[in-house]
Amino acid sequence: MKKRLETRAMFAGYRPQDADMAVKPPMHPASTFVFPDARTGAAHMETAYGVEGAETPPDGFIYSRLGNPTLRMAEARLAAWDDSEDAALFASGMAAISTTLLAWSGADRPVWFVGPLYGGSHHFLEDVLPDMGRTVTEIESLEGLDHALHATEGKLPGIIYLETPANPTMQLQRIRTAAEWAATHSTSDHRILVMVDNTYLGPVLQRPLEEGADVVLYSATKYLGGHSDLIAGGASGSAEAMGKVKEFRTFLGGMLDPHSAWMLARSMETLHVRVERQQENAGHLLAHLRELCGPEAIRSAWKEDLTTMGEDISIAEQQQRGGGSMIGLTVPGGREGAFAFLDALTVFKLAVSLGSTESLAEHPASMTHAGVPAEAKVRMGITEGFVRLSVGLEHPEDLKEDVAHAWKVACEVANLPV
Ligand SMILES: Cc1ncc(COP(=O)(O)O)c(C=O)c1O
Repeated sequence: MKKRLETRAMFAGYRPQDADMAVKPPMHPASTFVFPDARTGAAHMETAYGVEGAETPPDGFIYSRLGNPTLRMAEARLAAWDDSEDAALFASGMAAISTTLLAWSGADRPVWFVGPLYGGSHHFLEDVLPDMGRTVTEIESLEGLDHALHATEGKLPGIIYLETPANPTMQLQRIRTAAEWAATHSTSDHRILVMVDNTYLGPVLQRPLEEGADVVLYSATKYLGGHSDLIAGGASGSAEAMGKVKEFRTFLGGMLDPHSAWMLARSMETLHVRVERQQENAGHLLAHLRELCGPEAIRSAWKEDLTTMGEDISIAEQQQRGGGSMIGLTVPGGREGAFAFLDALTVFKLAVSLGSTESLAEHPASMTHAGVPAEAKVRMGITEGFVRLSVGLEHPEDLKEDVAHAWKVACEVANLPV
C-alpha cells in the first residue's frame, strides 16, 4: 500500500543501506565524480550533451552542476511533497522561476501571466523576457483567457503563469480554470503549460499539480527552508516538464549547492509540522486582530477575511487546505503609522522574507515592493499604511500582545482614540 505523504517525504531520496546505515543522509560537497574508466566517462558526457549514437551510461554522477547525490536526495523530497514525477532545486526562487520560464517559452510559445505577482517575477516577465525575444502578455483575470486569445488573433500561449494567493495582497486565482483552458486549447504539438508559484502556502496547504497545473514553483527560501538560513528555489512537475528545466539549469548554471540542498532536505522533514503550527498561531492572531483592528483592516487567505475582502471563497474551498500564516494589515496614519507600528514590534522582527520559524514584519510599499510603479501599487492594494506579517512559531499570546501594543502606538501617531 502506498504510504501517506508525510511518511513518504521522510525518507524520500535516501536509503540508510546506501551510507553505512546512517539514519540521515550524508552530504556530498564534491564538485566532480570519478569515472570508473574512459569509456564510461565518454558515455556519460556524450549522453549529457545529446551526442548522436552515445552509449547509455550506468546511473552515476559527472559534475555537480549537472547533478549531485545530495541535490538528487533533496529533489526527491520536494517531488515527494508535491507528489510529482520529478523536481529540480535552484540557487534561489528567482533562479527556479527564470530558468523554468526560459526553458518552456520561445518565439512560438508566448507567455501569458495573471497578476498580481511577486515583484521579481513581475520584473522578469515584463522587462527581461521580452528582451530575450519572448512575447509576454498580462491577462487581467483567468476569466479573460478567451478574450486574450481573440486579441492575439488565435496565437496560443506556451505558458500561463500565475501566483495564488498573491504576495502580499492575497488575491486568489482558480488554478483549475487555467488548467482546463490550457487542456482544451492544447494540441499534440503545442502543449500549453500552466505554471503556479506556490510559495505563499506551500505543498502542505495547496497542491497545484492536483488542480491540473503542469509545473509548481517555489521560493524554497520561505516555508520549504523555513528557518531564514538558506536561499533556494524549486520546481516540480512531470518528468517531461522537468527534463527540459534541468537541461536549461545545466547551461544557465543555477543549481542549488550541496550544503544548502542538505539543509533544505532536513527542513522538509518538519515542513508539515511547522506549517500547521504557524497556521494555528496565525488563526489565534487573526481572531484577535479582527476584534482589535476591525475586519476591513485585514487581508489573509483565511475564509473569514477573504469574504470581507470580496474574494470568491469557493476558490479557497476548492484548492486550499487552510489560509496559511501570512497576514496583511492596514495600519492607521499612512506611512508614518505603519513605520511607528513596525518600530514598536519586539517579538516580530522587522525583515523582508516570510515563512520562517520566527515572525517577521515589513512594509511592502517601501521595502519588498519599492520598485513597483505607484499606479500598480494602488491597483494591487499596496497602500502606505499596509504592513505584511509572517507568523512564526512563538507563543500566540506573545504575538498578540506584540501586535496589540504596536497597533496602539500607530493609533497614537494617527491621533485616533486607543
Ligand atoms: C511569491 C514569491 N515568489 C518568488 C520569490 C523569489 O524567491 P527568492 O527570493 O528565493 O529568489 C519570492 C521572494 O520573496 C516570493 O515571495
